[in-house]
Formats: sequence, C-alpha cells, structure tokens
Amino acid sequence: MNPKELEDRYELPVYPRRDIVLVRGKGARLYDDQGREYIDCASNVGVSNIGHGHEEVAKAIYDQYVTLGNCYGMFYNPVRARLAERLVALSPPRLKRVFFCNSGSEAVEGGLKFARASTGRGEIIAAMRGFHGKTLGALAATWGEEYQKPFMPMMPGLKHVPYNNFQKLSDAVSDETAAVILELVQGEGGVRVGDKAYFQQVRELCDQKRILLILDEVQTGFGRTGTLFACEQFVEPDILCVAKSLAGGVPMGAVLCSEAVKVPVKSHTSTFGGNPLACAAALASLEIIVRDGLSEKARVLGGYFLNELRAIKNQKIREVRGLGLMIGIELKEKAGPYVELLMERGVIVLLAGATVMRLLPPLVISREEIDIALSALREVLA
Ligand SMILES: Cc1ncc(COP(=O)(O)O)c(C=O)c1O
Repeated sequence: MNPKELEDRYELPVYPRRDIVLVRGKGARLYDDQGREYIDCASNVGVSNIGHGHEEVAKAIYDQYVTLGNCYGMFYNPVRARLAERLVALSPPRLKRVFFCNSGSEAVEGGLKFARASTGRGEIIAAMRGFHGKTLGALAATWGEEYQKPFMPMMPGLKHVPYNNFQKLSDAVSDETAAVILELVQGEGGVRVGDKAYFQQVRELCDQKRILLILDEVQTGFGRTGTLFACEQFVEPDILCVAKSLAGGVPMGAVLCSEAVKVPVKSHTSTFGGNPLACAAALASLEIIVRDGLSEKARVLGGYFLNELRAIKNQKIREVRGLGLMIGIELKEKAGPYVELLMERGVIVLLAGATVMRLLPPLVISREEIDIALSALREVLA
C-alpha cells in the first residue's frame, strides 16, 4: 500500500488531507514522492522559519543525541541552561524565567496554569476568533464551536470577548480575573492584526488590576512578523507562550514569565520538557535567526509581498492584510478551491477560516521564490 492508503487506514482521520505525499524539503522548497517541487508558503503552519533541512541544526541534533539525548528536569544540564539564558536574554525585559515544554498547546496550558497559581484567581479572558491549541485547557481558550463542541464540557472560567475591542474586554474583567490571553496577530482566526493602541490599553488595565497579560506567540514568534517576537512592536506581556519554530522543527514549546509568576515546586513539570536534544536544536536555530537577520528579512520581504498582493486588481479579493511574512488574503468567496489550484501550480499555502488564504513562508524565502508564488496567485485568481 502507498503512504496515502496506509495513513488513511491506520490513523485517526482528524486532519483535512491534501492529496500529495511530501518526502523532502530544502530551504523554502518542498518535494513530493513524484519528484514535483513546491514553493512552501506554509512552513508547516509556521514551524520552518529557518527553512527545511538546515545543516547546522541537523549537526547540532546529531552531536547532542550521541552526547546526551534526554535529561529529566530534576537534573541540571548545560545545554538546557544555555538555552534558558539565551531565550531570556532575547525576550522583552519583563520576562525573567522560562518553563520548557513540547508544543504550542502545552505552552498555553502552562501559561493558563501559571496565571491561576500566581494570582489565586480562576477567570481567564480570551478573544473571539482566538486560537490557542486543542488540549483541554488550551481548547477552552480557543474560540469556536467546531473545535469545542465534541469535547464538552469545557474547563470553566473562560470568557470570550470581541478581539481588538477594549471596552468589551474591560467590561468582562471582574475581581476573579487572573489573566487575559491574546494573539497579537490572530493566525487561525484569519490573519487579523491587532491595534497597538488596543494592546496598550489592555496592558494598562492589567497593570491596574494586577491581571496577568498572556501573549500567545506560538505562530508569530521567532522573526515571523518582522521582529524576533511580535510583542516588540506592541506591548510586553507577563507571560509569553512560544513553540512552533523555536527549535528549528524539533517539537518544543516554552513559557517565558515575569517575576509576577510564582508556582510551587512539582506543580507543573514535563518528562520531555527541556530535553537536551530539543534545546540543542533551539540554540542552533536561534543562532541562525539572529545571525542571518531573518526577522529583518521577514519585515522587508513581507512588505514587498504585501504590496505586490495589494496591487493585484481582482474582484474576488476582499482584503490583503498581515505583518512581516504572516499574510492573509481574504476573498469574497470560499478560498479552498484556490488553495488546491495553487498546489497544482506548485505553491503550498494554508487556509485560515473559509475565505482566507494564509501565507507563512519560511523566512529564508527569496524574492524570486516570492515572485513565483505571486505569478501563481495572479493566475489562479484571474
Ligand atoms: C497561536 C497558536 N497557539 C497555539 C497553537 C497550538 O500549537 P500546537 O499545535 O503546537 O499545540 C497554535 C497552532 O497553530 C497557534 O497558532
């Protein structure tokens, strides 16, 4: 049986599949089992910021595995120590400590738990159209019946308010509010960029009421929006959740915390959290992002990509929006068929809701590769 038949037969059918078998990747290109080449404008949903198949990360992973691949958090380890120091140094000044985990959902779980433990309060305010993952705690913060309904009842204490609307958020705050959790650019929710003024008001409110501000940068982190963390362009959080491209494609998440976060020993741990293998990959990947100026590249190339897309005169396009190399093209009709047509023309993009095409190319994509993607986009929309 071929890989499609095997996966369809043996795995739970939870992923809406595309009809290709990807076998290899290099830089911003992907290859299928028929030898066809694709321009990657998805990065495995924001994972491959440094591009596919980076030799430096591969070497770091190999070297670490033959040295010490696993080391539970009860023992000290030099690679974990170096990564903790490096990540805190690269983060906004308010953030002083880190907890390591293995995915975006887990980073959000950690953030929600730390907020409750640190404030002694139970209520969390999240935004409509927000996406924070699908484990039970994170799922309660994620917006949308489609995701929540099969798994009711949800964790209590979550309130959802309209995004980018300070008055509604402020009205929802009570004496029981522990935290507000928000994305700076809503990714799954349709690539919606929040206003800086809104986030500043939220920051002030949180300071006044001693509420912790959790920013979910699982998708916007590590150069994607033009700065290492998107929050550098908005406000500082008390808790910053990251994952996806942190370790160059090796599963890893992290929760960066201010001094307001206090949790008892043993209350929250993880077997694989901070394993030296992922830490070595993260150190190598961070080095590449900083040394090669990938955040700046995302800012410049993202600006180019956005301008070119906005210049397309096409009745089907409602709006083009984004920040850095996180771009949404909202259509006046369903976007699914165009995503398929693009794939046939060798360009892989994502959906973000029914009508939005989402582009998250590796930050190492070249201008020439962006031009190829633009030609295909113009062609399929015409
Ligand atoms: C903003 C945000 N938070 C959390 C998650 C969940 O991450 P994971 O799929 O690694 O659990 C995602 C995944 O797309 C995300 O975009």
